[in-house]
Amino acid sequence: MSTTTFTLLIGTLILGQIVGFVAWGLSRQRARYRALERQGAEFGALDPMGRTAADQPLDTSSTPALTGAPGPAWSGERDFVVQRRVIEDGNASVCSFYLVPADGAPLPLYRPGQYLTFKLDVPDPAGHATKQVVRCYSLSDRPRADMYRVSIKRVPAPPGKPDAPPGIASNHFHDRIQEGSRLSVRAPSGHFHLNEDGELPIVLIAGGIGITPLLSILNTLAHWADPREVWLFYGVRNRGEHIMKEHLESLCDSHPEFRLQVCYAEPSEEDIPGVDYQHQGWLDIQLLQRTLHFGRYEFYVCGPPPMMEMLVPALEASGVAPEDIHYESFGPASLTKRRAPAPTAVSAPVAVRFSQSGKTVQWDPAAESLLELAEDQGIRVDSGCRAGSCGSCQTAIESGEVSYQQTPDADVKPGHCLLCITTPATDLTLAL
Ligand SMILES: Cc1cc2nc3c(=O)[nH]c(=O)nc-3n(C[C@H](O)[C@H](O)[C@H](O)COP(=O)(O)OP(=O)(O)OC[C@H]3O[C@@H](n4cnc5c(N)ncnc54)[C@H](O)[C@@H]3O)c2cc1C
Ligand code: FES
Repeated sequence: MSTTTFTLLIGTLILGQIVGFVAWGLSRQRARYRALERQGAEFGALDPMGRTAADQPLDTSSTPALTGAPGPAWSGERDFVVQRRVIEDGNASVCSFYLVPADGAPLPLYRPGQYLTFKLDVPDPAGHATKQVVRCYSLSDRPRADMYRVSIKRVPAPPGKPDAPPGIASNHFHDRIQEGSRLSVRAPSGHFHLNEDGELPIVLIAGGIGITPLLSILNTLAHWADPREVWLFYGVRNRGEHIMKEHLESLCDSHPEFRLQVCYAEPSEEDIPGVDYQHQGWLDIQLLQRTLHFGRYEFYVCGPPPMMEMLVPALEASGVAPEDIHYESFGPASLTKRRAPAPTAVSAPVAVRFSQSGKTVQWDPAAESLLELAEDQGIRVDSGCRAGSCGSCQTAIESGEVSYQQTPDADVKPGHCLLCITTPATDLTLAL
């Protein structure tokens, strides 16, 4: 072969590679653009603020104090009516509630993975007085302009404590919230959500009811026909707990980029390996390492505290960059405190004054947070997540300073603090 022919051959090969790479990039951009266009077309005519996904992609995050982003889609509570209830699992312990706005006005966008905060009036067991409770529930479907969906698991008394009262809000939903019931709901919020502009393949890791925000992400990606490869690892005890089984399987059948890996920790005799589930045992890092190809992924993890506390550090230890791991716990978990900024040590005893209750107490270093201190004094404080996510416990500081045990997920208004994740840094007066 002459030098000229050889040079031409090499040149052609390099050119071919460049053309292939550019074509691949363009096809990804076209798919993303088509998805945004579709989203814009769906919401453009309906969004009350005139936003479209194309000019403001799914941004309803309510984080003005921290990021300068726009505020919540509505302030305070908005009334919704339950249009439909659907039991989602064999044990009948998870129920989806489809919510439509009572005013009939179109719903604003949210980011897949975000949650709603509910203010509920729950009657006491005798049915006389009502108690107000605030709880967060993840949106479990893709963003739609006509309705929202949440999927709620009934929470029993903890194992070994049969005399303890069962979960207040979840049982209230299951037992009393029927089609036609009205609910007071705060706007979607939360920082655990899909990175819409990401390029990396996605790994969703769900334990039990932790699948709800990941379902929202999965349904959105399917709706967009997003070109990214998506893995869903889903751990439950057995088929009785396996929610939306047919839906998940049909998503995988119809989307070649989706891969479903289900783990049953305690399969029953009727559960069929290879059909109902792919792996027996708990979902762990070894399974991820065995199953995933080499390369970089974006991980989204949501599950019970023991799973999170085991998996998230294991992902980091196996070399996944922290910015590629997104996670959320449904409540207080030691994991949320793992990356916390160190609290400011209080060197001298400090006094906490609750001005509206007329109480002054010495800070108790054994207390976990100002929320706990207030509750110990019999002071009524709204709380939902108790983990800095929902903003329910936000309280005005009249004087003094607080230390945060972790970075708040909810918005914090100037001059306010989230009691559930703060301790006093100086003598303090709170508007409580
Ligand atoms: C961001 C976020 C998103 C969430 N998304 C979802 C979701 O999509 N789906 C979902 O189902 N959940 C979700 N959750 C969890 C949900 O918010 C509630 O925490 C959950 O439903 C339990 O609330 P509850 O009022 O039923 O239970 P609680 O009344 O708060 O009780 C919790 C547990 O404590 C026990 N208990 C109560 N009193 C006592 C006592 N005196 N002694 C001993 N034990 C006691 C109860 O029996 C129960 O086991 C989410 C949470 C967060 C923070
Ligand atoms: S209780 Fe949710 S932020 Fe404090």
